[in-house]
Amino acid sequence: MITRRSMLGGALAAAGLPLLAPGILAGGEAHAAEALPPAGPRRAKGPVPPAFTTAMPVPTVLRPLSSTGAVDCYELKIRRSTAEILPGIATDVLTYGGHFPGPVIHARSGRRVLVRQHNGLDMPVTVHLHGGNVPSASDGNPMDVFAPGTARTYVYANRQPHASLWFHDHAHHMEAEHVYRGLSGSYLLTDDLEQSLPLPKGRYDVPITLRDARFDERGQLAYTMSDRNRTTVLANGRPTPYFEVAARKYRFRLLNGSNLRLFALSLSDGTPLTQIASDGGLLERPVAVPVLMLSPGERADVVVDFSRHAVGTRLVLTNTGPGRPEQVGKVLAFDVVRTADDPSSVPEVLRTLRPAAALPEAAVTRDIELSMDEDGRPDPRGFINGRMYDPDRVDTTVAFGSSEIWNVTNSNRRAPHNFHLHLVQFRVLERGGRPAGPTETGLKDTVRVMPGETVKLHVTFDGYRGDYVYHCHMLDHSAMGMMATFRVR
Ligand code: C2O
Ligand code: CU
Ligand code: CU
Repeated sequence: MITRRSMLGGALAAAGLPLLAPGILAGGEAHAAEALPPAGPRRAKGPVPPAFTTAMPVPTVLRPLSSTGAVDCYELKIRRSTAEILPGIATDVLTYGGHFPGPVIHARSGRRVLVRQHNGLDMPVTVHLHGGNVPSASDGNPMDVFAPGTARTYVYANRQPHASLWFHDHAHHMEAEHVYRGLSGSYLLTDDLEQSLPLPKGRYDVPITLRDARFDERGQLAYTMSDRNRTTVLANGRPTPYFEVAARKYRFRLLNGSNLRLFALSLSDGTPLTQIASDGGLLERPVAVPVLMLSPGERADVVVDFSRHAVGTRLVLTNTGPGRPEQVGKVLAFDVVRTADDPSSVPEVLRTLRPAAALPEAAVTRDIELSMDEDGRPDPRGFINGRMYDPDRVDTTVAFGSSEIWNVTNSNRRAPHNFHLHLVQFRVLERGGRPAGPTETGLKDTVRVMPGETVKLHVTFDGYRGDYVYHCHMLDHSAMGMMATFRVR
């Protein structure tokens, strides 16, 4: 739906005029007006429309094919499709079941989910449940692919607490491009604890996947490895869209689904975001975050209270991460279009986690070094502890049930990395020798590691035995070799 303001804004921007602050267009609300920087004309070359002229969709929630006693069964076809990402243009995408943005599966702890995936592409695929505590056979290991025309059933026992998980392709060397072209979806796992809290629910609980892309002149997704020109920001698969909200609290489940881009997110009215959850579910307490950092693969759930704003106000989610602000500085506009009752609230205490000091004692300490060629060669290689990924090699063997300390260092001088372990949720003890900040003290499966930095992780390898991978989640880097195998035995 196009509102008057978004139409006006679009018309002004299209005419090359700066967008007026929304408070002015809406005829009031000085506090919203003052925070919005004047937006320059954003007529990009090519078919990408001006900011805030397309509506952000809410991703489709899949219905189970069957739902018996304690099992929900889903069936999806992985196939090519087209999506109207840019107005009036059919863009070729790869999809789970034709959905772009990717679909959402709702799951509940203790209740089994079966997903039968049919490969309708002309290349092998594998499906990984990111953040999931799953047997190796259902983990979507990079080499555990299934061929075109065949199907594979993934079994998720959901033997873990609530968390905003996601699933995506992981076919060796192809994961980066496959995810870029659309093969990702949300897997929202809930449990009794989470359900007992008065947080915003239902239509006020919205998954938002952020990512970047580069479109060619015909509006098709252009992919080359290490591309620095992915300068169109997509929120739920639309370029810098608007989203109409009621003047009340919303929970947004943010996922950075980019390949390389780091987001640093804030609200244009200067109020902090209230972060309530990270990769592995709720934090112990809500944290007021002026700038939310989100590296590829990481999730953060935030609550935004729009009741502070009059109907007619526009709030912009801005990005001050790497890149030119005029290209990637605006992510999404929230347009307050109506009032609403709001029975929701954010409790002072969300859950209790073991304090860092009371975690099981670590038997082993390991040093993990992430690096890639930075000498400007055309095909840089990625390394973990000096070695490129070799699927036939087990790099690290850990004892089932044991706890370890992993000191993960980015030894590059310029390239940021991050670090993701399959199978487990870990705890971030330190960043750069200091105790981790409050947004990182919950359960995590992916953690940012900036150039020269070391993060100290506490990991307990329980759940399952088997082979899994760890890697940089900047997927071009893992495709370059920055990945390794660990065996739990
Ligand atoms: Cu999102 Cu190997 O993971
Ligand atoms: Cu993963
Ligand atoms: Cu990396």
